[in-house]
Amino acid sequence: MSTSDPLVVFTPSGKRGRFPVGTPILTAARQLGVDLDSVCGGRGICSKCQVTPSYGEFSKHGVTVHEDALSEWNAVEERYDQKRGLAKGRRLGCQATVQRDVVIDVPETSQVHRQVVRKDASDRVMVMDPATKLYYVEVAEPDMHEPSGDLERLAEALKAQWDIAPVTAPLSIMTRLQPVLRKGKWAVTVALHKGHTDDSYRILDIYPGFNEERLFGLAIDLGSTTIAAHLTDLRNGTVAASAGVMNPQIRFGEDLMSRVSYSMMNPGGDKEMTRAVREAINGLAQSLAEEAGIDAAQIMEAVFVCNPVMHHLLLGIDPVELGQAPFALATSRSVSAPARELDLSALNSNARVFVLPCIAGHVGADAAAVALTEQPGQQDELTLVVDVGTNAEILLGDKARVLACSSPTGPAFEGAQISSGQRAAPGAIERIEIDPTTKEPRFRVIGVDLWSDDPDFEAAAAATGITGICGSGIIEAVAEMRMAGIVDASGLIGSAAQTGTDRCITEGRTHAYVIHDGRAEGGPLITVTQGDIRAIQLAKSALYAGARLLMDERGTDTVGRVVLAGAFGAHISPKHAMVLGMIPDAPLDKVTSAGNAAGTGARIALCSVAARAEIEKTVREITKVETAIEPKFQEHFVNANALPHATDPFPILRGIVPLPDVSYNTKGAEAEGGGRRRRRRG
Ligand code: FES
Repeated sequence: MSTSDPLVVFTPSGKRGRFPVGTPILTAARQLGVDLDSVCGGRGICSKCQVTPSYGEFSKHGVTVHEDALSEWNAVEERYDQKRGLAKGRRLGCQATVQRDVVIDVPETSQVHRQVVRKDASDRVMVMDPATKLYYVEVAEPDMHEPSGDLERLAEALKAQWDIAPVTAPLSIMTRLQPVLRKGKWAVTVALHKGHTDDSYRILDIYPGFNEERLFGLAIDLGSTTIAAHLTDLRNGTVAASAGVMNPQIRFGEDLMSRVSYSMMNPGGDKEMTRAVREAINGLAQSLAEEAGIDAAQIMEAVFVCNPVMHHLLLGIDPVELGQAPFALATSRSVSAPARELDLSALNSNARVFVLPCIAGHVGADAAAVALTEQPGQQDELTLVVDVGTNAEILLGDKARVLACSSPTGPAFEGAQISSGQRAAPGAIERIEIDPTTKEPRFRVIGVDLWSDDPDFEAAAAATGITGICGSGIIEAVAEMRMAGIVDASGLIGSAAQTGTDRCITEGRTHAYVIHDGRAEGGPLITVTQGDIRAIQLAKSALYAGARLLMDERGTDTVGRVVLAGAFGAHISPKHAMVLGMIPDAPLDKVTSAGNAAGTGARIALCSVAARAEIEKTVREITKVETAIEPKFQEHFVNANALPHATDPFPILRGIVPLPDVSYNTKGAEAEGGGRRRRRRG
């Protein structure tokens, strides 16, 4: 190129260079490293290389672009326009050639590494960089005088036309290669996969001629209770269908440890659990493919995030070692394997599986996925990320260092083991307020937009009914009871006489608070019982103690920011979580929700090979804290039992909400003790 050659400026990248007259735009883009897509390698059949030339005066770039800056519309573009239609002003970058100075805009749809902004939560942008992509190649025909195999000539074509090498093919591809090559008249489209640790490209599928087969991947959040999957288009990261099913392993044990003991007590029990979860994933893949109207054979990859026990059972590894100190993982690296080895037969027969790395024996790939999504290691402020589930994954960090632990909160936050608890479904109470003077509640149920004290509420709720309390509802209920003086700091519910409301009813030797009595209409009596409060106290103490342990490790009593993650975490009100003492004291505007961060991490890893490499590196840098063997955990747990806390003062919270100084402990000595504690704190 010489200084007299025309100047080509690409937007939005701003990359520029001079190219001889007649250079195709695609070639100029490649030489400058501009992200311009192509599947057909410049043959004018894929239309992925579309660009928009801009004309006129561009003082910013110091260029004037004339009408004849590009070569004339050619026959290939005309044919494509007639067959498929080309938007006005667009040209095919592989056909249009440079004639004079020009400014070329690369629309987002023509970028391979297009950015996908997550719809849910914060502002992390995902860059498309999938492990599996399509390539069109024209292969040399066999020649008796220069004998070589069809696969070798395909590999040569990929090297010459795409600079891709080395290439490997499983036997199932080799068995189809010859007929496909001949059917395509020596032109084929191949789906090639290259993971972040692979040194060769693997052929996953092969189609005759130019094929615009859409490739899909599954991002799967494999939880102990539910399995959630997103069927994702590997070209642009869009989710074609999402669904969740219960984890069938529940029949072997509700929580993780009971599943580990099932495996310990029953020879072959691990195999049964492995089979059950794999069958469920196959079923989920089938139904997602049907919902999206695609063939399940178009699913080329599945990326999993899960806790260590689910991780081992998915991979067919007996989780017995995870049930006892030193909680050794079979591997803490990420796992990349053929889906076939995991019996995931619903997917393409050569599909690949990628499982994010685990952080430690109790801190799984789900926590790694949360770290990938929320990036605590990139924050200036010390950030606490809490993924609330049956097990809470807790991360604390900033640019200096990230720590992680996992804490067994149990299912109370999901509405299980709560007397009126239920899953988040229409009819479940999800929000509640209690008037501190009258002690009367008002609430909202899922599926109805009105509060229960609205005159139209009854009619609006007729369809859903008022059926129980879901996880976020029980958190609000207990916190509101504390703020209204119905529950004291130790978690005891007062009697009607003590609280001044008949809504406090006697239940054996304890009390319960009536939120809604639907019995007259054949509905349920919805109460918060003393047992419910205890269950919530246990769960929240485990959560807080885990966070506190990480704060100790960092030598701090405060955090700058709190992120509540998890499908359920997104629905928790920060104020109520803090009244309960689930999370450390912090300004409320510094407490945010992040939605399903683990699931999002799976999607990020599915869409980006670079993200896989990033998380593998990040995980090695995270300091693991093992709650199960840490002696201070028990002390923190006991102190965290009070609402909000026995020893941590929560000054910010006390400045914004009432926390009445009441005590309903009727046992003399303990009542005095409670009084002394309060006085000391005051
Ligand atoms: Fe395929 Fe231009 S690169 S049409």
